[in-house]
Amino acid sequence: MNMNQQEGRVLRSLEGPAWDLVAYAKTGGYEAWRKCVADSKPQEIVEEIKRSGLRGRGGAGFPTGVKWDKVLNHRVKERYFVCNAGEHEPGTFKDRHLLKHAPHQLIEGCLIASYTVGAKASFLYVNHEYHEEQENLQKALAQAREKGYIGKNVFGSGRDLDLEVFSGQGSYVAGEETAMLESMQGRPAMPRQKPPFYPTDFGLYGKPTLVNNVETLCNIPLILRKGASWFNEVGTEKCPGTMLFSLSGAVTRPGIYELPLGTPLRDLVERCGGGVPNGRKVKAVFPGGPAFPMVTADQLDLQMDFDSLKKAGTGLGSAGVIVVDDATCMVAKTLHFSNFFKGESCGQCPSCRMGTINLASLMTKIEAGEGTQKDLDTLLQIAGFVKGTGYCTLVTGAAVLVQSALKLFQDEFEAHIRLQRCPYQPAPVTAGS
Ligand code: NAI
Repeated sequence: MNMNQQEGRVLRSLEGPAWDLVAYAKTGGYEAWRKCVADSKPQEIVEEIKRSGLRGRGGAGFPTGVKWDKVLNHRVKERYFVCNAGEHEPGTFKDRHLLKHAPHQLIEGCLIASYTVGAKASFLYVNHEYHEEQENLQKALAQAREKGYIGKNVFGSGRDLDLEVFSGQGSYVAGEETAMLESMQGRPAMPRQKPPFYPTDFGLYGKPTLVNNVETLCNIPLILRKGASWFNEVGTEKCPGTMLFSLSGAVTRPGIYELPLGTPLRDLVERCGGGVPNGRKVKAVFPGGPAFPMVTADQLDLQMDFDSLKKAGTGLGSAGVIVVDDATCMVAKTLHFSNFFKGESCGQCPSCRMGTINLASLMTKIEAGEGTQKDLDTLLQIAGFVKGTGYCTLVTGAAVLVQSALKLFQDEFEAHIRLQRCPYQPAPVTAGS
């Protein structure tokens, strides 16, 4: 896989197998953890994370320090910590990479997080289909335990702290944090209503729970070792640091690229990804996976950070960047993701259950050349009706996808209706022709 490990901050190449603690320790690994256990007060750690400006890398960019503060200072003393490695966003594969290649960095981040909020028990929730990654993680945990970095009497301090791997369901919705917590309690993976039930107040077993994404946690040891001001030397003022961009679709070199937040999209697509292959051009880009509006070729100078993309009417999500070339039918592309949302709806909220089914069936009809002009109006009506409903963001993603496709590529939808077939497919041969 393509990646820029040499220039990266979070991503760095280590010698030897990734689960081997020696190589990680050579780069200063576990120093921050040792220091925390020896002489850091939890509130001081929280303040340093707040000063760094780190924002969650799972998709929403919520300030990490604020979340930690809420759990640390919660009146309820029974608290939990969960690392959310239930990655399932189409086009996002960076957490998988970190699990496989940086398990110790993740473990160190988890230990610090768990210690800071005073968790009673701590878990790593990992997709069950991430086999190799889970194996790596288990080997790394065993090594850290053997060294006395985890388990009973950590660093001889008299303090006990362990981490347990929980093999998760591996569905899109199960990665939504409240659905994940439900499934960890043996219940169906269905999201809770949020607000009011943010995990910081009502998490695992109804207790305050800190939930952080893999990449967010991998940044923690670096911030504590090198300092908040080192961290925010790069990136933008409101979105400091780097981010791991999962780049896929119509590029010559798909892969994972770590770049400062605020880097222009063009840099990612052209310099890192080597541009669109086969002499084709960029037609559209999903800058944050299919649940956020697409951007077009004339927007490649957009800065890739949470705020700039929001201002441009879209979003960064977990930075799963999907490039679409000009040989692609946008109706077919939209249908592909509409079917994804339909298949992944957990069915709990009626608007999501029915909305995703209806959007996908209308999209199927239009792509097959059987649609009418009225179907386009109906698509927009349904999308407008279901957007913003549901306990999680799934149905909103399905609606936004269709709205964005129709806004930017209405001519392609209309061509399907006029020609009664997909214009990107060869016209059927008729008798006598
Ligand atoms: P959200 O905005 O509701 O919450 C983001 C985080 O901040 C959550 O951990 C939430 O608990 C916390 N939070 C927000 N407001 C809070 C408050 N007032 N007090 C305490 N904590 C608070 O977003 P959500 O629904 O958790 O995530 C949606 C995003 O996830 C989407 O934008 C999508 O990009 C992304 N996503 C990522 C996937 C992946 O595989 N990485 C899969 C699916 C979606």
